[in-house]
Order: sequence, then structure tokens, then C-alpha cells
Amino acid sequence: MREYISKSAKQTKQFAKQFVKQLKKGDVVLLDGELGAGKTTFVQGLGEGLKIKNKIISPTFNILKIYKSSPLSLYHLDCYRLENIKSDNGLDIYDLLQTDDAIFCIEWSEFLYDDLQYIKNPITVKIDILNDEERKIVIYD
Ligand SMILES: Nc1ncnc2c1ncn2[C@@H]1O[C@H](COP(=O)(O)OP(=O)(O)OP(=O)(O)O)[C@@H](O)[C@H]1O
Ligand SMILES: [Mg+2]
Repeated sequence: MREYISKSAKQTKQFAKQFVKQLKKGDVVLLDGELGAGKTTFVQGLGEGLKIKNKIISPTFNILKIYKSSPLSLYHLDCYRLENIKSDNGLDIYDLLQTDDAIFCIEWSEFLYDDLQYIKNPITVKIDILNDEERKIVIYD
């Protein structure tokens, strides 16, 4: 477990950019934290670290966005809109996680319900809002 206090969105991205160096293909990062905590901001930093050129935004209509890069692509899932869909969410999580040469980051993973069983040994990143600009980031790895 590791803790970091971020004082700005920029610092959160910078921290994530460093953090991504410890990840290897197939790793699954679960991002925990309330609305506006900074989960997507953290994923933007991961993207920078992976040299992804496209802007990473919260997927609005699609649950999944794929950012191709080499040597590692980034699969970004935001399951918020699955809150009330307890069966047949249209995703084949098991199949998705077989993808080679990718890391996966998942916001609101609790709404995957039964599909959570397919996620083995995730790394959890918990972001707590301390005040307007400060966040406590805890890594459970
Ligand atoms: N230290 C900080 N770290 C991250 N974001 C911060 C920080 N300080 C302020 N912010 C702001 O908080 C907001 C975080 O939004 P973001 O979309 O990343 O949250 P989220 O956790 O993904 O929310 P959602 O659950 O809606 O997807 C941004 O507007 C960002 O600029
Ligand atoms: Mg988000």
C-alpha cells in the first residue's frame, strides 16, 4: 500500500504517469472514488505515461474506449451507466481481459456485478477528496 497527497489535477496526472511504469501487460487497475474525485484525471496521466496522443475523456455513450499504443495499449472502462443493468451489460469482460499487450483501467467497477469474478489480482487506486484541490491517492498493490 502506498499513499500520495495530490494538490492539483496536474499533480495527479504526474503521479499516474510515474505509477504506470510499474504496470505490465494484462494488469487491471480499479479506480475507486466518488464523482469528481479524479479517476478520469488519473487515467489521463496513465495515458501520458503510455505515450497515448489522443485526449482521454470519460466515455459518454460507450462504456469502453480503447487507446492503441505501443508497447502497451490502454483500455478505459467507465461502468457508471451500468448501475441498473444487472445482467447482459453487452460487454464480454472475460474475453476483453484476454487481450494481449494492454492494460485495463476501470471506473465504477462495482457496477460490473457478477463480471467482477473475471478480474484477478487487480490493483486498486482509491482517490479521496480532501478539499477543492487536494486528493488522497492510495494504491493497494
Ligand atoms: N488534486 C486533484 N486531482 C485530480 N483532480 C482534481 C484535483 N484537484 C481538482 N481536480 C478536479 O476535479 C475534477 C476531477 O474530475 P474527473 O472527471 O477526473 O473525476 P472522476 O472521478 O473521473 O469523476 P466521475 O465519477 O464523474 O467519472 C476535475 O475537474 C479536476 O480538474
Ligand atoms: Mg470519470
